Amino acid sequence: MKILAKAGVSALALTLALSAAAQAEDVEVLHWWTAGGEAAALNVLKENLAGQDIGWKDMPVAGGGGEAAMTALRARVTAGDPPTAVQMLGFDILDWAQQGEVLADLNEVAAAENWDAVIPAAIQKFSKPDGTWIAAPVNVHSTNWVWANKAMLDEMGIAEPTTWDEFIAALQKVKDSGKVALAHGGQPWQDATIFDSAVLATGGPELYTKAFIDLDPAALNSPEMVQAFDKMTQLRGFVDDNFSGRDWNLASAMVINNEAAFQIMGDWAKGEFLNAGKVPGTDFLCFRVPGTAGVVTFNSDEFVMFKQGDDAAKQAQNAMASAIESPEFQIAFNKVKGSVPARTDVADTDFDDCGKKGMAQLKEASEKGTLLGSMAHGHANPAAVKNAIYDVVTAHFNGEYDSTQAAEELANAVEAAQ
Ligand code: GAL
Repeated sequence: MKILAKAGVSALALTLALSAAAQAEDVEVLHWWTAGGEAAALNVLKENLAGQDIGWKDMPVAGGGGEAAMTALRARVTAGDPPTAVQMLGFDILDWAQQGEVLADLNEVAAAENWDAVIPAAIQKFSKPDGTWIAAPVNVHSTNWVWANKAMLDEMGIAEPTTWDEFIAALQKVKDSGKVALAHGGQPWQDATIFDSAVLATGGPELYTKAFIDLDPAALNSPEMVQAFDKMTQLRGFVDDNFSGRDWNLASAMVINNEAAFQIMGDWAKGEFLNAGKVPGTDFLCFRVPGTAGVVTFNSDEFVMFKQGDDAAKQAQNAMASAIESPEFQIAFNKVKGSVPARTDVADTDFDDCGKKGMAQLKEASEKGTLLGSMAHGHANPAAVKNAIYDVVTAHFNGEYDSTQAAEELANAVEAAQ
């Protein structure tokens, strides 16, 4: 400081200059990771960037599934003030990529770190539309999981169900005992998350693909789809009276706190169990929704990078993208989040039994062609179609349609949304 003093540079001026430089290094991040397990995982990224002198300006927008976050994003971009990075899913990323020059080009950092070789093609479909990397994939979640309270199952002599009928019988046994059989939050995105599995358990990858990816009216309004809605009616009979509007992590807490036996939810639920100090295989079980084994309905969280004005901001943005794709971060973050790494070259050594199971099943599904984008989480079709499906599924779950009417409405609503 003495040298600078001689040069007439005051401590204050130096501090201001350094803090200005520090501010230029900040990244502003819009996301919806506000639950306990999610926030714990996000801290891994914040700390990683802080270690590179990159500050974090947080823009959390609560609301599972990210609908509210996408609304907030549109407002920021319309105001000409986009965040540095935005958590985003699947087809929403493709929508933004089509908006012209609003997204940054990550090809330089992607080439330097060989992302093309380690990120699965199923994810690159969204991260790298038209040959330009515009997003850094953080993880691979999947939705067709059941989370079960092991002590409750042991107490009632319930073995892990492997068929739909065994699952229904297990739910009935719990209900008859007076406990809550199925912990659920009655919100459209959560009802749809269950619907991913109800359709898979009914008609397998064929029905799922024809209905949600091909948007085939004959599949959407088919006897099989009626049966899928019948499964939803069965499940509706196992939720508690206060399920409507409940946040997903509060439903997870019911299983964690021995108030409910099962939850059907994506593996971000595991982050809640871990955050509560619960151990897979000891406190809780994780298994694929009975009838969906062999298939993985995935959703990858990606940080979409929005074009930044000055070089310092661009450097910070590239440093964030690079940090996200580092093997070390991929392990540290996904262990906490409940997801599996987006990179295929990461060993499962550091992951718990549910993580190891998830990584093996992702690899197997990818090789077998049964790795399917989650409809509920924006990886099967565009947002307008997804939201049209949400509306019908939730209306049916709340008793506004019977299963036959629901299948008919589903085909009509999807047709109208295209
Ligand atoms: C999903 C997202 C997960 C988790 C979940 C609950 O769409 O991929 O990371 O945030 O919503 O909000």
